[in-house]
Amino acid sequence: MWGGRFAEGPSAIMREINASIPFDKALWRQDIAASKAHVAMLGAQGIVSAGDARAISEGLDRVAAEYEADGVPEDWDLEDIHMVTESRLAELIGAAAGRLHTARSRNDQVATDFRLWVRDACHQVDTGLAGLQRAIVTRAGEHADSIMPGFTHLQTAQPVTLGHHLMAYYEMLRRDRSRFADARARLNESPLGSAALAGTGFPIDRDATARALGFDRPTANSLDAVSDRDFALDYLQAAAQCALHLSRLAEELILWASQPFGFVRLPDALSTGSSIMPQKKNPDAAELVRGHAGRIVGCLTALTVTMKGLPLAYSKDMQDDKPPVFEAHGLLALSIAAMTGMIADSTFRTERMRQAAELGYATATDLADWLVREADVPFREAHHITGAAVRLAESRGCALDALSLDDFKQIDSRIDERVFAALSVDASVAARASYGGTAPVRVREQVAAARTALGMEP
Ligand code: ARG
Repeated sequence: MWGGRFAEGPSAIMREINASIPFDKALWRQDIAASKAHVAMLGAQGIVSAGDARAISEGLDRVAAEYEADGVPEDWDLEDIHMVTESRLAELIGAAAGRLHTARSRNDQVATDFRLWVRDACHQVDTGLAGLQRAIVTRAGEHADSIMPGFTHLQTAQPVTLGHHLMAYYEMLRRDRSRFADARARLNESPLGSAALAGTGFPIDRDATARALGFDRPTANSLDAVSDRDFALDYLQAAAQCALHLSRLAEELILWASQPFGFVRLPDALSTGSSIMPQKKNPDAAELVRGHAGRIVGCLTALTVTMKGLPLAYSKDMQDDKPPVFEAHGLLALSIAAMTGMIADSTFRTERMRQAAELGYATATDLADWLVREADVPFREAHHITGAAVRLAESRGCALDALSLDDFKQIDSRIDERVFAALSVDASVAARASYGGTAPVRVREQVAAARTALGMEP
């Protein structure tokens, strides 16, 4: 395709290091679509004859049908998807194929194809995340009243509701979806027609090709258009942050599924057994979601470092842009699917959760708050008094509300029998009814709003 100025062909090593077809064949649909938009425009502008334009367009459809049926042939001599497709087109329709590359370069071609691919990827991730959010919201609604310990420093802090805990992930995923939506909106400009780097002398119509490919407009600077990979980095940044959220959720499920916690039974279908210990049920899917987050962050790092310090416009380093994006997308899509299954089909052991909340002095803050509210004790002093009560209960190995009124009176005479109503975990969560708080009434509101936002039945 470019041999004219060369006396010798490339060495085997050059062929191998140069070939991107093993991975960029994933762009074949986008490549065909962009070529069809380009040649239709060339025909409409009279840059190629109507007959040639039609022959090329029909030929591209035949190539696409072959790829669909048999896959893309991996010919290293032809380097990449653009040349493999053009060369097959030439075999099918003859000399007219040579007119397809008029007024374009592989530089604007690959930038266009890759933007189209990332646009689809954003859409797929958004669909997946909406599904995961639906699973979360459904389970949160079922567990708006289920009580569990809330943790800080992984120490029992205050009782919360499981629904509230799950809805925290709904919020993270909501922000993730907005990041992918931003990435998608920003990438939607067409590089096609920027040619190698400087634009072209042919009377092309960039608005027409942009429109045909669903872009909002053509890119405004041809140098930027062929050298920019922000859209891929935007995708990877959103993917890394999303993967990090999934990893935190995975970690919690792993912890909760452990015997000492016993808060959850993960679905058999997403767990594995041990080849030596018959009693084991391992949370492998969750562990792999946690592990994949590391690889996805690695993909972001890889492309960030590849792009750093590249001069304008195109450099071949940029051929390495695709593997990290393809890899990250595959891992993320799988992680979302696995997490959706785990949330939808896990059994939450609400009795164990409640017990853990009751045993962990989770309502100590409620005792302090009660002293402030009912006995007008300054909070710092109330904190101190409560500490003494916890110490006493701990020394007896009992819960706070198992202390007697006399015990309490001895610690501080201002405490009376009404305190017991404040010390139950149910009273504790019901009291935290501030906006965004853990009270069942607030959780039900959050769930209802989320269901509306997701287009679910009320
Ligand atoms: N396979 C190349 C890539 O993915 C296509 C662009 C080649 N451009 C060039 N000037 N050699 O980046």
